[in-house]
Amino acid sequence: MKAIVLCAGKGTRLRPLTHTTAKHLIPVANRPVIFYTLETIKKAGITDIALIVSPYNREEFEQTIGDGSEFGLNVSYVVQQEPKGLAHAVWVAKDFLGKDDFLMYLGDNMIMEDLKPFVENFRENDVDASILLTPVEDPRRFGVAVVEGGKIVRVVEKPKVPPSNLAIIGVYMFRTIIFDGIENIKPSWRGELEITDAIEYLIENGYDVRAHIVYGWWKDTGKPEDLLEANRKILENLKGSSILGNIDEKSTVQGNVEIGEGSVVVNSIIRGPVVVGENSVIKNSYVGPYTSVGNRVTVDGCEIENSIIMEESVVVDVSERIDSSILGKKTKVVKSSEKPRGIKLIIGDLSSVEIP
Ligand code: G1P
Repeated sequence: MKAIVLCAGKGTRLRPLTHTTAKHLIPVANRPVIFYTLETIKKAGITDIALIVSPYNREEFEQTIGDGSEFGLNVSYVVQQEPKGLAHAVWVAKDFLGKDDFLMYLGDNMIMEDLKPFVENFRENDVDASILLTPVEDPRRFGVAVVEGGKIVRVVEKPKVPPSNLAIIGVYMFRTIIFDGIENIKPSWRGELEITDAIEYLIENGYDVRAHIVYGWWKDTGKPEDLLEANRKILENLKGSSILGNIDEKSTVQGNVEIGEGSVVVNSIIRGPVVVGENSVIKNSYVGPYTSVGNRVTVDGCEIENSIIMEESVVVDVSERIDSSILGKKTKVVKSSEKPRGIKLIIGDLSSVEIP
């Protein structure tokens, strides 16, 4: 059994972060989103994985994950030259997949679910496909399935009038028969070959497509607020504290907190859950719950909560509390006493700043 993880998407809703980083490599609790995905797949017992990447992000993935051996995985890369849809992404992985059954995982989804029962169930039963579903409040944003007695009898992509509340959350098990489906579909209204349509083809042609319904937390990390929610969720699950850096006697650390090697905390309050990477400095500051501070960051004279501060950023003497914020790599937010006074902004395209 193999797995493919689809990572070719551009992540337009996460700009400007995705101008320089693939959305699957944006850190949540100081680890790229894709690391959680790879761990989940490994836990399910699959180690042979191909990442379906784009010509633009291939290098960044290869640099970050390499051949996967650090994770105990065998990772290879397949380039999807053009974004022609999820079914097209599966098609380009045809050589990698060969005759194997496979797990397909949309790389920007984070799920807390243990996938082992889903994978084992498929392995042990003579069915043609199995789709992970979850009930949602507004199914119109998703592929939606109609289930009768454990069997999926219909799937439809982003219906205006949803036939059920069961959303396809982006994790699928397939046998190679899915390639028949992909060969027999046409691009949808959005010009993409939809995997949902290939599944519908299987259903209409009498193949056995099963539902696997889960109720745990999951998130499609497509938007900034999703990243912050995923960050909160991961930090909530921090078990205990790990302080490898140095905390001076004027500082207090409360709750579950991780502080990496070489980092120093001076005259500050850290109230967990919080993670701080390596070689960062937190001085005269308050760092509150649900904050992730990356490597080589400086926080001086600030209050920060519920935020992601990526590596090598500098945040100094900001008079308001920083909340629900995402700062990319090497960003700078500092107080200036230069005249004329005023807010000086040098921010990239599609950035957003909210000032009280
Ligand atoms: C894709 C699938 C959709 C699924 C969703 C899950 O949608 O086409 O069926 O429900 O992922 O996140 P997209 O993110 O491409 O709009």
